[in-house]
Amino acid sequence: MATNITWHAGLTHAERSELTGTKGLTIWLTGLSASGKSTIATALEQYLLSKHVPAYRLDGDNIRFGLNKDLGFSEAARNENIRRIAEVAKLFADSTTVAITSFISPYRADRDTARKLHESANLPFIEVYIDVPVEVAEQRDPKGLYKKARAGEIKEFTGISAPYEEPEHAELHIRTDKISVEEAVIVIADYLKEKSLVSI
Ligand code: ADX
Repeated sequence: MATNITWHAGLTHAERSELTGTKGLTIWLTGLSASGKSTIATALEQYLLSKHVPAYRLDGDNIRFGLNKDLGFSEAARNENIRRIAEVAKLFADSTTVAITSFISPYRADRDTARKLHESANLPFIEVYIDVPVEVAEQRDPKGLYKKARAGEIKEFTGISAPYEEPEHAELHIRTDKISVEEAVIVIADYLKEKSLVSI
């Protein structure tokens, strides 16, 4: 625990937002492995950037290989994974960027903690359930991980031998076996426009 640290007051979020001309927020994608989170996150990031809305994606590639490379997939490690990601997303949102997070985040309590963290800083938090039946995710199996999990080669695999707690109050619910990536991006972008979170 750090002691003797002090907090320097700087720009408020409102002042920062006034200067950059954009609002910050976090779009929190949650769902099973192979549900389509990262594909949608990438397409959404490109769409927002093409409209000159600053956006940045946080996913396994830039977090689990870096900041969180010390963490595995036990329940405690996943709690800590999500706690750190929530703190980082909050910083991006505070900087007036749209943070797009793409992690299974299987525990409801962890996602709720991420939400509270944002809400206590007056930063919008949009939970998006990227939903697909586990049978479909297992059929897709782009990384062959479901197969390994079934064979017992990967322990505590979400949807097979570890839980996924479905969101109960997600702002958006997207079934990726029913709509395309492009349509999913439109659903999210329309929501952001409707709530005046982005000016596009
Ligand atoms: S989370 O549960 O802590 O939110 P996260 O999204 O960071 O998970 O990482 C999930 C990715 O790690 C999966 O898409 C998969 O590629 C890989 N992975 C490796 N082991 C596991 C496991 N036991 N359960 C789920 N995903 C795993």
